[in-house]
Amino acid sequence: MFPTIHAGVAMSVLLDVTNLSVHFPLRSLALWGGARHVAHAVDGVSLTLAPGETLGLVGESGSGKTTLGRAILRRAPITAGTVRFRGEDITTLSGEPLRRLRRNMQLVFQDPYASLNPRLRVRDIVGEPLEVHGIADRDAIRERVSRLLTLVGLPADAGERFPHAFSGGQRQRIGLARALALEPELIIADEPVSALDVSIRAQVVNLMQDLQARLGLSYLFIAHDLSVVKHLSHRVAIMYAGKIVEIGDRRSVYERPMHPYTEALLAAVPVPDPAVERHRQRAPLSGEPPSPVDPKPGCRFASRCPLVRDVCRETQPPLVEKRPSHSVACWLRE
Ligand SMILES: Nc1ncnc2c1ncn2[C@@H]1O[C@H](COP(=O)(O)OP(=O)(O)O)[C@@H](O)[C@H]1O
Ligand SMILES: [Mg+2]
Repeated sequence: MFPTIHAGVAMSVLLDVTNLSVHFPLRSLALWGGARHVAHAVDGVSLTLAPGETLGLVGESGSGKTTLGRAILRRAPITAGTVRFRGEDITTLSGEPLRRLRRNMQLVFQDPYASLNPRLRVRDIVGEPLEVHGIADRDAIRERVSRLLTLVGLPADAGERFPHAFSGGQRQRIGLARALALEPELIIADEPVSALDVSIRAQVVNLMQDLQARLGLSYLFIAHDLSVVKHLSHRVAIMYAGKIVEIGDRRSVYERPMHPYTEALLAAVPVPDPAVERHRQRAPLSGEPPSPVDPKPGCRFASRCPLVRDVCRETQPPLVEKRPSHSVACWLRE
């Protein structure tokens, strides 16, 4: 497809994000001579995604996951860095080319209750992207919508009803059907199961895996804890205060994490085997993440890190590939 050279290995890349930053200037007290403050929501993030691959993106609330996802879709202002899709630099696209690109990248929202227009029938919600992009005539849209509803496991008559008639899990299926209407290659799923009952999360995750296998989709799957993305991710990225602190193959990250923050997140994931659970070292995280406003130099995790050293407070550690396909940003691993 689109071969590029990454770490000496030829592989095809669908999405290639390099040094991406999203900084929000805050309304300042400049009027009274105050300094200008800037929120570093996303700060120098690099990642890639291959066709058909799922990258799990995990971090606490406020770490910049949503902003990163939106910046990739060109729905948040990019301060610096580049986003390439199928090899094309899309960082500054606008007008018709951006509109065309957006068909290929879709967002699935966190809140299935707030993201569907309550006044529209489900068939109009799912068919709307087709209409907006002028893809098909009325009959063809009707036909395609009913196929989409079947694809996501909804009953045939679902199209005639309004969103309020559906449960949270079913609404997320409607959101997926809508996202799939334009046959995208990339789906950015922003905590798609966080608002759902634990008992139905697995159904939605399984559906998404099934859709990926059938349609060859790539997912950037955002979550705030590591348990949700464990079974569906091929690779996992850990985000902390606007930065990727660790990224690698799923097995490597879960079995041999290198960043103290990843270890703390893993300590919060329940282990089904009580014998393993009992003997495991627990390192619960205390304190709050730092403010993204005017970050201090040094590692962002230094204020909460149990293993912090002087160097950590002085200089930002770079993200370095320490094992094959597994990188970490931590001075302890230098
Ligand atoms: N439009 C904005 N203006 C100022 N700050 C913002 C804006 N959007 C997000 N932020 C800040 O950026 C940080 C990351 O937010 P967000 O991307 O929503 O994180 P997450 O999705 O991981 O919870 C937060 O501190 C948030 O307050
Ligand atoms: Mg978010």
